[in-house]
Amino acid sequence: MTVPGTESAPASAPVSESVAAPEALRPHAEHAFAGELKALAAADDRPRPERWRLSPWAVATYLLGGTLPDGTVITPKYVGPRRVVEVAVTTLATDRALLLLGVPGTAKTWVSEHLAAAVSGDSTLLVQGTAGTPEEAIRYGWDYARLLAHGPGREALVPGPVMRAMAQGLTARVEELTRIPADVQDTLITILSEKTLPIPELGEEVQAVRGFNLIATANDRDRGVNDLSSALRRRFNTVVLPLPATPEDEVGIVSRRVDQIGRSLDLPSVPDGTDEIRRVVTVFRELRNGVTTDGRTKLKSPSGTLSTAEAISVVTGGLALAAHFGDGVLRAGDVAAGILGAVVRDPAADRLVWQEYLETVVRERDGWKDFYRACREASA
Ligand SMILES: Nc1ncnc2c1ncn2[C@@H]1O[C@H](COP(=O)(O)OP(=O)(O)OP(=O)(O)O)[C@@H](O)[C@H]1O
Ligand SMILES: [Mg+2]
Repeated sequence: MTVPGTESAPASAPVSESVAAPEALRPHAEHAFAGELKALAAADDRPRPERWRLSPWAVATYLLGGTLPDGTVITPKYVGPRRVVEVAVTTLATDRALLLLGVPGTAKTWVSEHLAAAVSGDSTLLVQGTAGTPEEAIRYGWDYARLLAHGPGREALVPGPVMRAMAQGLTARVEELTRIPADVQDTLITILSEKTLPIPELGEEVQAVRGFNLIATANDRDRGVNDLSSALRRRFNTVVLPLPATPEDEVGIVSRRVDQIGRSLDLPSVPDGTDEIRRVVTVFRELRNGVTTDGRTKLKSPSGTLSTAEAISVVTGGLALAAHFGDGVLRAGDVAAGILGAVVRDPAADRLVWQEYLETVVRERDGWKDFYRACREASA
């Protein structure tokens, strides 16, 4: 059956109703990187699964970056093991759904958005999982005015993002799957195993067409909040996104994202802040790992996650300070308050951890005098 708003679109037609708003604060990936996606589609001569915009190879290249034969440079979106991306992409071409798992800030949401943009040209078919997510958010709802006026019928049905993705053969996304109550999560079992969504009120069903698949994300730390039932877990291929392997990788990720965010916010450009970025990343990694980079000093870890994502916010905040209130150069004083905010989540215990780190590690480190002073001032 056809439900309004779910008609399957030909692969070449624009599938998203959302048009890139020129002033959008944060354009969707398919709009922000439309040029790269177009160049990839033009250069891509490998077989594409039905309704995919690109071949699996081109989707992986879109995520990991590369240079096309015509010289077009594809910027890396995800920095991490190639194999992780390859497994994620190929999973989407099978009948199993993809579960991206990892600690906070490991780019699960980011990768999910880019995968949907590259595979389906539409990353907006999204269900945001919360403790209050109702079944209707995953299935469908009703337009009550029509329902009252005309009774139950297709016209009164309001398809949810997953139903639309099924009908159009697109990629649906479910964010924070494990925050959704278990009985609501289980709505996905029929969808993923039978590839159908029954509408008992109408005695009908929506069957998924080829091209449909689903990407869910879940946080390692939330495990136990609403664990996935084993029946649901079996429908997923789980791909764990690791923390950046080396400090260089992490500095690279932070620099690149800060630069992109700074441009989108029209921050006045600040000359090379790599030194400060390196220090933020070092502090975060050492506290996260519970040991200094040289392996000599054991440290207590604070309660916060100190993820790459938080390092990105600290540096972006620092850049804004440097640009608007400083001398235009990113300095220790611009990032100190941000670091303190990220490290000291619990005012009592974390403050002690931070003081100890400051006095035993930062203070003694060559070339970190200005940083030590700035952090002391911020902590006062
Ligand atoms: N390996 C990485 N490669 C590229 N970007 C990364 C990487 N790790 C983190 N980031 C950046 O970190 C930011 C946050 O990532 P994202 O929100 O996707 O994390 P998440 O895993 O969904 O976190 P949460 O569990 O809190 O939802 C993004 O801007 C992303 O670009
Ligand atoms: Mg996320």
